[in-house]
Parts: sequence; structure tokens; C-alpha cells
Amino acid sequence: MAGHSTYVPRTAFSRWLDERLPIIRMMNDSFTTFPTPRNLNFWYTFGGILTFMLVVQIVTGIVLAMHYVPNAGLAFNSVEGRIMREVNYGWLIRYIHSNGASMFFLAVYIHMFRGLYYGSYKAPREVIWILGVFIYLLMMATAFFGYVLPWGQMSFWGATVITSLFSAIDQVVPHLGTAITQWLWGGFAVDDATLNRFFSLHYLLPFVITGVVGLHVWALHVPGNNNPLGIDVKGPQDTLPFHPYYTVKDAFYLALFVIFFAAFVFYAPNFFGNPDNYTQANPLVTPTDIVPEWYLLPFYAMLRSIPQKLIGVLVLVASLVTLLFIPWLDTSKVRSCRFRPMMKQLFWLFAADCVLLGYCGAQTVDAVRFGIPLLWLARIGTAYYLAFFWVLMPLVGWLERPKKVPDSIAKPVTGNKSAAGVKA
Ligand code: HEM
Repeated sequence: MAGHSTYVPRTAFSRWLDERLPIIRMMNDSFTTFPTPRNLNFWYTFGGILTFMLVVQIVTGIVLAMHYVPNAGLAFNSVEGRIMREVNYGWLIRYIHSNGASMFFLAVYIHMFRGLYYGSYKAPREVIWILGVFIYLLMMATAFFGYVLPWGQMSFWGATVITSLFSAIDQVVPHLGTAITQWLWGGFAVDDATLNRFFSLHYLLPFVITGVVGLHVWALHVPGNNNPLGIDVKGPQDTLPFHPYYTVKDAFYLALFVIFFAAFVFYAPNFFGNPDNYTQANPLVTPTDIVPEWYLLPFYAMLRSIPQKLIGVLVLVASLVTLLFIPWLDTSKVRSCRFRPMMKQLFWLFAADCVLLGYCGAQTVDAVRFGIPLLWLARIGTAYYLAFFWVLMPLVGWLERPKKVPDSIAKPVTGNKSAAGVKA
């Protein structure tokens, strides 16, 4: 962890423990006295909110698993019958978990866009970003496996569509794709074996995520936080101890987030759900329209926008793998978009593009709006998504004339005295 330790053990026990396992020292240095930039805003509270959501999902998930039956003949009833109607407060645990997944993704998207806007992926924070991308991929896999478990129509057909993507490999090596798909299924279709392994993986992955989050926060504590100005901390006048300043700020916004979350759980628990999932899985009846959960829609739109299956899959993979290269695709010396007039506009266009792709992903593939086929809008959206990272990011970094960045974090707040190095 950055800086030297300020921990002084006060009791005989803490002295004894400190010499053997300095865990209190580590917690103190990381979460109490840790020097944190004094200008972190609201958008910096989402890391804490995400940590909270991870715990909520694990705790509610473990309780659900006590009553859930991973069997193709019994799963639907164990959720809709037993958990929702018989288990005490089972409905509450289930609605917290299902809406919690949406809240978790909402928070992670805000967290990622915050990182993009303030250039938090740039040196020396590349590893924090890359670990974040791994967390995001693990979250997508976990959510996909979890959505299959209630064994409704959308669970079954969603699983069928996504696992069948592997069969596109047949176009390169005949039969290999089908063999991989059947191996994943554990049979010749999505069935009991598939449900069992998806349940097992859905239980496992959150703990893998927890491990990677540990590394993510560890990597964060080496250089310390970036900040909305994107400039380095110059000295103690630029920072505040994490506790009580940011513990209180994080707690306040966490409370607001929980109220927002509770509004869905108690007043609109099916807002994010799909009515088709209230019908038990039926391999003989395909729903008219198969749609994933909202947080996967932009990627679904990219996949569907290309009629050639293999190329569609490759574009989907590319859209995710691209995220790993962002630290090197951005050639600008300035981190924060606050001082990057061109990048700021392209960033907001990118955010709008993701919303547009999400919208296209939610509509039928042949839908037309205002005379425009959505398929074409999705294609333009996909092109912009990839061009934003691979063309615009490197180019704008070279061409753009950034605004002058402040000399220090403290200067705009406390004037020149503290910027000169005098302690505030
Ligand atoms: C379970 C999911 C995650 C958890 C619990 C988590 C946790 C945190 C925490 C506690 C912080 C410090 C506070 C803050 O800056 O908000 C942080 C910072 C950061 N996270 Fe995450 N994170 C998660 C996912 C992600 C993802 C998916 C990405 C990007 C792909 C990411 C990228 C970053 C970056 C770049 C920072 C440094 C921000 C800065 O200093 O400006 N994180 N994360």
C-alpha cells in the first residue's frame, strides 16, 4: 500500500497481533488514514456501492440456494412456488437478488463511464482498469448463468441462443463448434445437465469476483485514487484521510442508492423482468422474441446487427476485448475529459451510442422506427463503438489541444499558498 504506515497499536492484544498478522495495520492504512484526493465527487461513491451490492448478492444468493432445486423438472416450481409463496420472506430475498443484479450493473456502468471520463485507466492505473474489465466479464457470465436458473421460457431460450454461439466455430473447423456446444450443454440440448452446471458456476463465480475485487482495490491503493481533475497528488495539502471524510460521503450516497433500489424491490419488482419468464421452460415452444436482460442489450444488438453468425460473434468478442486495450489506445497526456474539449464530445456521443445500441437490442430484428430500419442503426452504432476506441481515441489524443490543467488539486480551493506546498 502507498506511503508508510501510521498505525500505532494501543492495546496489548493489538500489539501482539500486529507482530504476527498485521491485519489491523493493513485495514487502518487502507481504509482509515489512507490519503485520498480532497476533490472526489459523487461519481467516486460507486466503488463502495459496488462492494455493498456484491455482498448483498452473495448473502441473498446463499439463502435462495437453500431452497432452490437445480433440476429441470423442479426448478421453476422451487422458485415460483416454494420461494415466492411458501418460504418466509422468500419473495423479498428473491426480489432483492433479481433486482440487485440490475442495480449491480447500473452501478458498474456508472463506475466504468466515470473511469472513462476522468481517464482513470491511464498510467499508473492500467492494472486497476484491466482487473475491472475482468470483474465486468465475470459479472456478465454470473448474470447469464443466474438468469437460466428459474427455468422460465426466457431462461431456457436465452441459454440456447447464447450457448449456440459456439456452433459458429463450425464455419472454421467443421463439427468443432457443435462438439463444443454439446459439451457445454452436457447433452444434445439445454437440459437438466446444463441447468446443474450453470447453478454450480453461478454459485462459484461471485467468490472469484470477490477475489478479483480484492486485487482491484489492492492495485488502487498503490498509486491511490485518480480524481475529477485527473492530475497527480502533489502533497498532503491535496489529500484528506479516507475516514471520516469519505466513509461519511460514501455512506450517505449508499443510503440514497438503497432507497432507489428498495423502490424497485417493493413497488416495481418486475420492472426489469420479462413476462415470458413466468411461463415454465418449454423446449417445443420458442418465444416470439428472445431478449436478454437490459444490461446485455447493447452487446446483443451488436451480435444481431451482422447476419453472418461467425462475424457477429467475433464483433461481440472484439467489443469486449477492446476494453482491455483502452489504457494504450488513449494517446493523450491529459487524463480528465474536463480539459479535453474534443474527447468530451466524443465521450458523450459514445454514451448515447451505448443507449442506442441497447434500444436496438430490445426491439425485434426487423423493427423500423420513423422509417429507419433499426438493423442499420445498430450497424452504425456498432461501427461507432469500435471506431471510438480504435480510431478516435488514438487520433484525438494526438490532434486535440487540451485546456490548461490546474497546477494542483488544492490550488482552486485554497489559493496559491497551499499549491506552493504549504500545508492546508
Ligand atoms: C464488483 C465490481 C467492482 C467493485 C466492487 C469495484 C470497487 C472499486 C472501488 C472501491 C474503487 C475505489 C472507489 C472509487 O473510485 O469508486 C474502485 C476504483 C476503480 N475502479 Fe472499480 N470496482 C468494480 C468494478 C470495476 C470495473 C468493471 C471497472 C472497469 C472496467 C473498474 C475500474 C476502476 C477504476 C479505473 C478505478 C480507479 C478510479 C479512480 O481512481 O479514478 N472497476 N473500484
